[in-house]
Amino acid sequence: MDSILVKGGAPLSGEIPIAGAKNACLTLMPATLLSDDPLTLTNAPRLSDIKTMTTLLQSLGAEVSSLQEGRVLALSSHNLTSQKADYDIVRKMRASILVLGPLLARYGQATVSLPGGCAIGARPVDLHLRALEALGATLELRDGYVHASASGGLKGGTVAFPFVSVGATENVLMAATLAKGTTVIENAAQEPEIVDLAQCLRTMGARIEGDGTPTITVEGVDQLHGATHRVVTDRIELGTYMLAPAITGGTVECLGGRIGLVQAFAEKLHDAGIEVSETARGLSVSRENGRIKPVNVETAPFPGFPTDLQAQMMALLCTANGTSVLEERIFENRFMHAPELMRMGAQIDVQGGTATVTGVDRLKGAPVMATDLRASVSLILAGLAAEGETVVSRVYHLDRGYERVEEKLSACGASIERIAG
Ligand code: UD1
Repeated sequence: MDSILVKGGAPLSGEIPIAGAKNACLTLMPATLLSDDPLTLTNAPRLSDIKTMTTLLQSLGAEVSSLQEGRVLALSSHNLTSQKADYDIVRKMRASILVLGPLLARYGQATVSLPGGCAIGARPVDLHLRALEALGATLELRDGYVHASASGGLKGGTVAFPFVSVGATENVLMAATLAKGTTVIENAAQEPEIVDLAQCLRTMGARIEGDGTPTITVEGVDQLHGATHRVVTDRIELGTYMLAPAITGGTVECLGGRIGLVQAFAEKLHDAGIEVSETARGLSVSRENGRIKPVNVETAPFPGFPTDLQAQMMALLCTANGTSVLEERIFENRFMHAPELMRMGAQIDVQGGTATVTGVDRLKGAPVMATDLRASVSLILAGLAAEGETVVSRVYHLDRGYERVEEKLSACGASIERIAG
């Protein structure tokens, strides 16, 4: 298993290109199942999660070609051979559940393994299932699989989510495009990835209004056609690299970044004493001399502070001049990075969903272990700021969501390398 060696202390300066969004791409790819015609996705990120979704779609008989070194994905579902998503693939990645809505809408049936447990909490899929039932699907849970059918096709209906779910909104949005009649999704997720999916579906001929607001309305159509769509910028990768100069000092320009993708996060950086400005090519982030100011953070669905940046923000606040409180409101058990950061000298007290972080002058390098995707990159950020060497092991988590992290950071002056193991 590979690990990453970071030698801390160097301020960063330079530019970092931000890739297309993993989470957008993972929902855009299953949209191919809605049409016979080809779907081409440009600005795709090159990540192991994208490979897992490729394998899943191919197991259904879809054609998926990776062009231009993985930057472009050419997908086609004209010859689907199966409507069953096997446990062996689904267990590797929870986003596999996103094939359920499209398969059901197009073929009137689908069998999808229930995703297994996950390191960051129970993460059930009940909202996905209830939403599809509201469109007339019949569901049966048997042998660890969801057996879904809709003889005569899905019918438009009202889906009122009790709380916001990104994945469930995506699943039902895709399904509703081919349902008969009108679907109204209330308390829908407003994340940029939802807007990106809706834009792609509209290019494919879907009739969708209200994406980016809590109420989305979909008029079902008989069929969708082919499209070419550019994947939106990855706001989590963007936020992560915005934190790099914030934690080390220096100035980094994040190419392709837009403030609208990270507004709530950028406001917290500003409160911590970091300067963020818009440039012609993206966002520039600078930290002058002096300690970080403590700030309190509460995660929330978009447009709130993203849970996927909580671990990285914690790494920054470990060196603040005072005490910060981080409240995790989306996932239970999402502070597994805290004990690892404490191995590096951080002072953190976790009580349930609240972490109280008392800043220290300087973190110290240590061997640490990545526990999930965002936790792993938070340890790399902490290592950049720490005195001495940090070795982050189990970096396969990192490869799920960050491409060429060592290259991107070392181009800005960081001392970071991958050690093959
Ligand atoms: C997506 C993102 C993930 C991000 C999360 C929240 C992808 C591939 N992943 O995950 O990176 O952290 O949004 O921004 O896009 N829940 C239920 N029942 C359900 C569905 C969800 O109880 O049927 C709960 C979850 O356990 C969680 C909350 O709802 O506590 C929000 O989860 P959700 O928005 O669905 O996250 P994902 O779509 O899985």
